[in-house]
Amino acid sequence: MSPKLRLDRIKNKQVKKKGGKVKLSNINIRTHPRFSNVYISGLPQNPKLYSKNLIPGNKVYGERLITFKGEEYREWDPFRSKLAAMILEKPSLEFLTKDLSCLYLGASSGTTISHLSDIVYNGVIYGVEFAERSMRQLIQNTDKRKNIIPILGNANFPESYAKSIFTPIDLVYQDIAQPNQAQIAIENCNYYLKNKGFLILAIKSQSIDSVEKSEKIYIQEKKIIEKAGYVIIDSINIHKYAANHIILTVQK
Ligand SMILES: C[S@@+](CC[C@H](N)C(=O)[O-])C[C@H]1O[C@@H](n2cnc3c(N)ncnc32)[C@H](O)[C@@H]1O
Repeated sequence: MSPKLRLDRIKNKQVKKKGGKVKLSNINIRTHPRFSNVYISGLPQNPKLYSKNLIPGNKVYGERLITFKGEEYREWDPFRSKLAAMILEKPSLEFLTKDLSCLYLGASSGTTISHLSDIVYNGVIYGVEFAERSMRQLIQNTDKRKNIIPILGNANFPESYAKSIFTPIDLVYQDIAQPNQAQIAIENCNYYLKNKGFLILAIKSQSIDSVEKSEKIYIQEKKIIEKAGYVIIDSINIHKYAANHIILTVQK
C-alpha cells in the first residue's frame, strides 16, 4: 500500500459506536464563519455542513451523528436538503438565528425542518404539509422536537390553519413543487409574515412548466414576487444539488 493511501485510510478511520452513532477520528467541527448555529468541517472552499443535534442520539433521516468535544452534530446533506445546498452557495442568510418563529410550507417527512429546528432552537416552526402519509412520518420523525408544530393543511389556503399559529412569523420557508408556488408564497406571507420579515422560496421550474427554459421561468416567478411588493435579496442557483431549482431570499 502506498504511503499516501495508508495515510488516507488512517485519516478516515471510523470508530463505530452503539446505536449507529459514528465518531470520526479526524473531523474538526467548527462554527460556520457567517451563519449562526451552522457548523462545518473540512476545507473552507469545500466544507461539510452540520447542525448541532437538539435531541442527542436522535436521527431523522439516517444522517450521520458525530460527537466532537462533547457535543453531538448531525451531518447535513445538500443533496437531500435544499437549505443545505443554498448555504453552501453563500447566500444572504444572516437573519437565521436561534429565536425565529417560522412557517414552513411543504414540511414533508422532516429532513430540512429538523435541521432548521436545530438552528432556531429557541424559536418555533409551524410545519405545514398536505400529504397524510408525509405528515405521519413528520410526526414520527420529529415528535421529540418541541419547537416543531406539525400542521396537516393545504398551503393554498393560509387562513385554514390560522388557529394553529399563535406567534408572529419572522420567516416563511417554502419548498412545495406546485405550478402556482410563487402565488402560494405571497398569500402566506401577506397573511402571516411580519413587516421586514423574510421568505426563503425554493422554485422548481419543472413544476411550473416542464417545456419552457428554466431561466425564463425564474424571471417570470421573480416578477410575480416583485409585483406583490416584496424585495428579492438573493437568488441562488442550486442546480449542482437539485435539478432545475433556484432559491430566493425575499423581504417583506
Ligand atoms: C419537495 S417536498 C419538501 C421537502 C422538504 N422541504 C425537505 O427538504 O425536507 C414537497 C412537499 O410539499 C408538499 N406539498 C405540496 N403541495 C402542498 C400544498 N399545497 N400544501 C402543503 N404541502 C404541500 C408535498 O406533499 C411534499 O411533501
